[in-house]
Amino acid sequence: MEKHSAGDTAAGMKIISIVIQKGGSGKTTTTLNLAAALRDQGKRVMLIDLDPQSNLTQSLGIGDEVEPNIYHALRQEAFEQAAVLEDLVQHCCGLDLVPSSIELAGVELELVSIYGREQILKQLLNRLPTPYDYVLIDCPPSMGMLTVNALVASDQFIMPLQAEFLPLKGVGSFMRHLEKIKKLMNPNISLLGFVLTKYDHRKTMNRNVLEKLKEAYGEDKIFPTFIRTNIALVNAQEKGMDIFTFDKHSNGAKDYGQLAQEFLAKFKGS
Ligand SMILES: Nc1ncnc2c1ncn2[C@@H]1O[C@H](COP(=O)(O)OP(=O)(O)OP(=O)(O)O)[C@@H](O)[C@H]1O
Ligand SMILES: [Mg+2]
Repeated sequence: MEKHSAGDTAAGMKIISIVIQKGGSGKTTTTLNLAAALRDQGKRVMLIDLDPQSNLTQSLGIGDEVEPNIYHALRQEAFEQAAVLEDLVQHCCGLDLVPSSIELAGVELELVSIYGREQILKQLLNRLPTPYDYVLIDCPPSMGMLTVNALVASDQFIMPLQAEFLPLKGVGSFMRHLEKIKKLMNPNISLLGFVLTKYDHRKTMNRNVLEKLKEAYGEDKIFPTFIRTNIALVNAQEKGMDIFTFDKHSNGAKDYGQLAQEFLAKFKGS
């Protein structure tokens, strides 16, 4: 069976981390609704909840005590024998999710003495047969071992960002950290793009941060669709649904639908 290796430029499954260390930036909301939009385009998507808060798991209406979950797979892979990600998959709203739980919060300490602990998720994903077009990994709001595992396993990453001053500062420190990961563990990872979330063009701060982001990273690295503030996105998560299942006419559905088109355009021909 065909196997994937991160950094592979050949056609096939793409592994993408949704990442930024700043909390509340829209990582989980973007992971869920981008995946749902891709599902509606006929793409097969696997979601991995790599955050001990399990917000993605809960946003799909799945309880946060499902076992086994990603915590067990990481431990088994590190200490015992090869674990199988497909065995953990929960199906919801036409999406496949590897769930998380609060136990994941302790995994960093538990694995501290394991050689190659930054590569555990990559090993798990390398063994995944490839019926999936995309694997989207929802990262926790920190640059700890879990996020490093996600970045080591990924071909690309997406950074959701609120266009404000402090999150922008966080981007700089993330990029410096990423350079180290690139140099040591995954030279092929690249930024797919920034997604501006909770964007309001009437706010001067939002417009200024957008300009600064363009100057620093280039306009082509910013997805043209900005995700507007939209309460339906919050309500959908509360109900355990993606935005298209909850309200396909909402601004949230329009924005994430458009974002998915731009996302797919980046992979055309690859
Ligand atoms: N476009 C939006 N409009 C309104 N609310 C939003 C929007 N995007 C996200 N939210 C809400 O903002 C909060 C934070 O979003 P989300 O959980 O996606 O961020 P996160 O980066 O995953 O946070 P964390 O770092 O804690 O994991 C959530 O309550 C979510 O429902
Ligand atoms: Mg989150």
